Amino acid sequence: MDTNIGSDLSLAVQLLRDGHLVGIPTETVYGLAGNALNPAAVASIFEAKNRPSFDPLIVHISDASEVMRYAVAFPEAARRLATLFWPGPLTLLLPRHASIPDLVTSGLDRVALRVPAHGLALQLLKALDFPLAAPSANPFGYVSPTSAQHVVDQLGGRIPYVLDGGPCAVGLESTIVGFEADDMVVYRLGGLSLEVMEAEVGPVRLALNQSGNPSAPGMLTSHYAPRKQLFLGDLEALIERFDGRRLGILRFQQSTQTTNAVLEEILSENGNLAEAAQRLFGALRRLDAADVDLILAEPVPQTGLGMAINDRLRRAAAGH
Ligand code: TXA
Ligand code: MG
Repeated sequence: MDTNIGSDLSLAVQLLRDGHLVGIPTETVYGLAGNALNPAAVASIFEAKNRPSFDPLIVHISDASEVMRYAVAFPEAARRLATLFWPGPLTLLLPRHASIPDLVTSGLDRVALRVPAHGLALQLLKALDFPLAAPSANPFGYVSPTSAQHVVDQLGGRIPYVLDGGPCAVGLESTIVGFEADDMVVYRLGGLSLEVMEAEVGPVRLALNQSGNPSAPGMLTSHYAPRKQLFLGDLEALIERFDGRRLGILRFQQSTQTTNAVLEEILSENGNLAEAAQRLFGALRRLDAADVDLILAEPVPQTGLGMAINDRLRRAAAGH
């Protein structure tokens, strides 16, 4: 199967109506989308990604007014977050409606819903009369794609079309939030920072990343890993430790330190965390593709989007 890239919305609509998969842009990362109400289309998403069926999918909708078609309750706390942050990099776990096939939620009793903040994605969702199940459009366990070309690089030949909406503006997957009584519980750090959320709604609880966490089975420690071994820590010490190897370096901001690295990627010359987030996965891909033995990376400041960036770097380092 040839995989084409383009911005032909009506072709994407037709393919999705016919039960095919399409790579779609969002503000976070590119998704591998199929009709969420069609079990055969959903099954082919798992197959194209080599994704284990115990790892549930996020369902994308065009507007919060659609929530009650796919969830049986929309608690006040969830409504508030949706009003504040949708469209945006926020996924809400809500009690699942019977309209959602078992396969989408891996049999769990909650469904993950999100309204993406991307013009082309919203136009597509509005043109369809079904929601789109879409995990990140990468093979299971690998770094998420932040451009249409990244999708083709890895899933080319497996899907007919990638809708090109340009580079992703946020560059990190959505923040995932569930609700227990009146508590908001964050299961995955992502493109909506805790600071921004807490400034509006007060303190939230964190329940992050224990692999085997039954509420978010996809949050395995070794997610988001490049194929090359990655070490995370103080760069100066790491460079000394691996003296003589062909090194790829992922640095947060510009530095006067000189190295003889084969490739050095700087996430944000002047230390802007949003820019660093936007560039992170592309930089990891370039380092992975370069002629290097190892990737050495340093953590970024543990504040704002830095928390999610560090989370992805730790998972990348744990992937081997
Ligand atoms: O930004 C994003 O969230 C992107 C774009 C495409 O929207 N999607 C994304 O999907 O990152 P994915 O499949 O790579 O990660 C979704 C994660 C799952 O691994 C799982 O941890 C959690 O969301 N999840 C999905 N449905 C769930 C459910 N019903 N209960 C608990 N966790 C769920
Ligand atoms: Mg993913």
